[in-house]
Amino acid sequence: MPTASQPARNVILIGFMGSGKSTVGRLLGRSLGYEVVDTDHLVVEGEGRPIAEIFADLGESGFRDLETAALESLRGREGLVIATGGGIVLRPKNRNLLGSLGYTVWLNADEEAICKRVSRSRKRPLLEAGDPRATVARLLEARRPIYRECADLVVDTAGIGIKEVSSGIEKNAHNYFFERGE
Ligand code: S3P
Repeated sequence: MPTASQPARNVILIGFMGSGKSTVGRLLGRSLGYEVVDTDHLVVEGEGRPIAEIFADLGESGFRDLETAALESLRGREGLVIATGGGIVLRPKNRNLLGSLGYTVWLNADEEAICKRVSRSRKRPLLEAGDPRATVARLLEARRPIYRECADLVVDTAGIGIKEVSSGIEKNAHNYFFERGE
């Protein structure tokens, strides 16, 4: 059982929309033999409606409350790969929860790659209004320092394939948990 000073044996993926958290999460889960959970899915399942509707009804702040509840629901669990929504790091409370829930890995992608991957979708209402490219640039600049602050490991994904990203994380996570005597 994790203690306050020791994060649980889970791997958490953080990073901007379109940085590959879900894809890398699936691969990493398979190779570690860990169950993959996704905070966006937990929120959507819990509410029984898509993210766009939650944003429209409760606003971004209401959505962030639900993300906090999703993280809290994972307390005490181990052996998970946890893919998170890109804005989960914005709340100080969520940052603390991430710190206790596991080994936190930031998938750092460049603006170009992100813009190629994110399309207007019901899952990403923040990119629906205005010029998505300008929004990506603005949010990225604001969030990068926060992702960095939360991360136990930073993976620069530019020019690296998904398999390489996943196996790099796996090695580092093994070392991290092994060095703690697990
Ligand atoms: C968000 C990212 C989305 C989703 C929501 C808000 C954000 O998840 O949680 O649209 O604030 O960056 P992905 O990062 O999986 O796209």
